[in-house]
Amino acid sequence: MKAFTRLPFPAIFHPVAMARDLFKKCREYSDSADARAQGFYPYFRCIEQSYGNHVVCGGEEKIMIGSNNYLGLAQDPRIVEAACEATRKFGAGCTGSRLLNGTISLHNELEEALAAFLGRESALLFSTGFFANQGALAALTEADDFILCDRENHASIIEGCQVAPAKLVPYRHNSVDALRNRLKRIPEDSGRLIIMDGVFSMSGDMADLPPMVEAAKEYGAIMYVDEAHSLGVVGPQGRGVVHHFGVNDDVEIVMGTFSKSFGSMGGFISGSNELIEFVKHKARCFIFTASLAPAVTGGVLKALQIMQAEPERIEMLWKNTRKMHEGFKSIGFKIGSTQSPIVPILIGSEAKAFAFAQRLFEEGVFAIPAIYPAVRYGEAIVRTSFMSTHTDEDLDKVLDIFAKIARELGTFDDPAYTEPGRRRNVFDFALPQRGGAEEVRVDSGDSSRNGSELHAAVSR
Ligand SMILES: Cc1ncc(COP(=O)(O)O)c(C=O)c1O
Repeated sequence: MKAFTRLPFPAIFHPVAMARDLFKKCREYSDSADARAQGFYPYFRCIEQSYGNHVVCGGEEKIMIGSNNYLGLAQDPRIVEAACEATRKFGAGCTGSRLLNGTISLHNELEEALAAFLGRESALLFSTGFFANQGALAALTEADDFILCDRENHASIIEGCQVAPAKLVPYRHNSVDALRNRLKRIPEDSGRLIIMDGVFSMSGDMADLPPMVEAAKEYGAIMYVDEAHSLGVVGPQGRGVVHHFGVNDDVEIVMGTFSKSFGSMGGFISGSNELIEFVKHKARCFIFTASLAPAVTGGVLKALQIMQAEPERIEMLWKNTRKMHEGFKSIGFKIGSTQSPIVPILIGSEAKAFAFAQRLFEEGVFAIPAIYPAVRYGEAIVRTSFMSTHTDEDLDKVLDIFAKIARELGTFDDPAYTEPGRRRNVFDFALPQRGGAEEVRVDSGDSSRNGSELHAAVSR
């Protein structure tokens, strides 16, 4: 139990006027208002209707290339019906924790189906993928343990590392040499857990699992793979990167989320019976939160069945993915080392990434820019991601619009594009078509990356 801090002297002597004003930062915060004033604010765009590959915003139809609905299942009528059926049977919510009154038969069914699908002994549902990472990392590690964490891991992992008692050791993105270097320096008798995204959510590249697994074995480390962007996408029947590489038996913990290819929300971890039995009695964000709503659970169960019964969806997703990788490259865009439907379009300058995304929206394409700390400083991107349900017509139109805007904004001649990552102010130019931009700083919603959070965590 955490001890309460003693006040240095009786509270009565604390003059109220001296108290730090907690809301000062709120009053002074103007980043979002500045961006809005200049017409570049890309966040919280309101969707009035969704058809999956198309959405309606402000009464206008846009091609959606900013979603993780990889298999187009979020709008599948069979899943919507399964969600309605579950609601009719169990109600709108479970109104309690799994531990107490919140376990319904659909939860158990889904856990069993997931474990069977992934070839694991057991699975445990969490209310979000974020909670799954946080809950598992906090429950499984102790103060003398070490978590070895890829620098480009998702924010939920970084957050989990901050909540967990173990020490965080970041290693260079996808580098087994860096990982080995770190492992070498960890005290022999300490516990070690290596954690990585299966497919990295910004760069779209795949974890180089086989050598990582070898290193883990050599140094007695536990392997934990976050398959958020790989389930339903990579591996036989979409079973994820651990199956793609044939290392399922060497990875002790596989985590996943339903907020991507399952088209819903919620998350899970999977592993041995004893691991799951322990986590379900120890993870605070499993115990002290309400369980997944019946609609979500019923819908995800149906999505899992469809995913297995209709492999043509995954084939279509990859056909579209290959087309877009080639299409963007042939226009001249740099798409990094992506190996997935996540295609990061390098812009370089943060201001131009915002301008680019705004012009896309005006031309009928919904995509979101990602800036530091979501990506490396000076390597701003427009993050695009593709679905099995995009038509050739959608994709050709997207490529034409990207080419047109790149010409219009001079993207390929911009020094921030030709020499990305140079550590300088990436807002040091004007955007004349909007009346001249000075500094526009808006933090990315997904501040998941190798940025301030991670450094804060490291210096803990
Ligand atoms: C790699 C990764 N892990 C975990 C999560 C969190 O998942 P959820 O949306 O279910 O909280 C995300 C979501 O963006 C993710 O990209």
